[in-house]
Amino acid sequence: MKKGIFKKLFITYGVTIILGFGILALVLMKLFSQYFIDSKKDLLLEYGQKITQDIAIGIYAGRLDRQTLNEDLKVLDKFLDARIWIIDKEGTIFGVSGTNEEQYLGQKVDGTRLGVLYRGRNIIETGNFGSKFKEPVLTVGYPIFYESEFEGGVFIHAAMPGIQKTFRDVYNMTVLAIVFSGLLAYGILYFQIKRISVPLGEISKAARVISGGEFQKRLEIKTGDEIEELAESFNDMAESLEKIEENRRNFIANISHDLRSPMTSIRGFVGGIMDGTIPSDMQQHYLGIVMDECQRLIKMTNGLLELNNIQQGRVEANKTNFELNELIRRKLINFEKNITMKNLDVLLNFYDDTTIVNADKAMMERVITNLLDNAVKFTGEKGSISLKTREEKNKVIVEITNTGVSINKNELKTMWERFHKGDSTRGVYKSGFGLGLAIVKEMIILQNEEIWADSDHDYVRLSFTVGKGK
Ligand SMILES: Nc1ncnc2c1ncn2[C@@H]1O[C@H](COP(=O)(O)OP(=O)(O)O)[C@@H](O)[C@H]1O
Ligand SMILES: [Mg+2]
Repeated sequence: MKKGIFKKLFITYGVTIILGFGILALVLMKLFSQYFIDSKKDLLLEYGQKITQDIAIGIYAGRLDRQTLNEDLKVLDKFLDARIWIIDKEGTIFGVSGTNEEQYLGQKVDGTRLGVLYRGRNIIETGNFGSKFKEPVLTVGYPIFYESEFEGGVFIHAAMPGIQKTFRDVYNMTVLAIVFSGLLAYGILYFQIKRISVPLGEISKAARVISGGEFQKRLEIKTGDEIEELAESFNDMAESLEKIEENRRNFIANISHDLRSPMTSIRGFVGGIMDGTIPSDMQQHYLGIVMDECQRLIKMTNGLLELNNIQQGRVEANKTNFELNELIRRKLINFEKNITMKNLDVLLNFYDDTTIVNADKAMMERVITNLLDNAVKFTGEKGSISLKTREEKNKVIVEITNTGVSINKNELKTMWERFHKGDSTRGVYKSGFGLGLAIVKEMIILQNEEIWADSDHDYVRLSFTVGKGK
């Protein structure tokens, strides 16, 4: 079994899952980082404004001394988790929010940044703030104007690692969730694909067994889905194949059997004539038997060919309108010799003087001949045969009944098969090959009509429908 399907599905779905979750993770990460930096930035901007207005300007208005300013900055530093610097209009840092920030006191902020503030703009940046910090920071800068005069500014630095740590926690959780659900999805996928690929493998194995000639192989798959349906169809197919194979065997066995006995007797008689075992005055008699046997063989071959032609769809029903009573009478006359020989009573009973039917005339003749042949053949001496027509549901029904014999229920079903000869009649009536009813049935079906048989302990009746004509 090629591992193709499993591998293909597994890889395809796997790649889809990984890509899907990967993209999801990337998007989430981007969104998270944006969100954390943005919200921190917004917070810093908001407080930057407050500090500028309430605290820094208070100094220039003389309402706040430097001591109080530094205390206030210290509280804000804790609250915001950010360092705060206040600069004067030259850019010199004169107020800081923590003791370990005091190293920056007196240092100058570079001219570019001062210029931005001077023009009244805010500063928002990430980085080392002109290499003043070792770690990256998010910086927000605000200018201070007092009575329309530029007086300096406020800088708030939030350490990026702080932001990044919160972000990393959320990020780790997300990745963990994604990895976990990915693994789960992959696990479920694995079993789902196995559920498909394992039975498919079984089916293919069984197909190989069957193509090797073991038609009795059956599948036992209960997945409750299309695969089970496939297995069921497969079993049906195997059963049909088994049946065909059995038919083929029977056919060959039957045909060989039916060929052998006439061939053997022909060889016996011809051999006897050739080597003189049969005296010359008897030769004519035995040649007559040989002739009969040859005639029988030809009849069988013709019957088989005819059946084959019909079954292969090479024969079409050619329906015409004709009178049925006359046809039945004529066919009956053909059996006159055998009827008088067996002393049979014949009863004719037509529901009307003339019955116009619509059917294939040649086939109708053949059907009636075959049925009459059986009736005459299987009725004992002094028995009776009755031919009857009746009308039912716009159809003509022809019934041919013979007395003194019966067919059991089982045989009523099987007697239509080719080569079927009734057990009681086999061997006794040498002249039949069991093809007659098979041909009759095919011809009736070809004309879209029906045929059936019924029997009791002392009669057999075959009935068939014929379409009415105008
Ligand atoms: N009218 C009948 N009466 C009794 N048995 C019949 C009758 N018609 C058919 N059968 C049974 O059905 C079998 C098959 O008939 P058929 O196909 O005509 O073959 P065949 O006539 O060559 O034996 C016969 O061998 C016989 O056992
Ligand atoms: Mg027959």
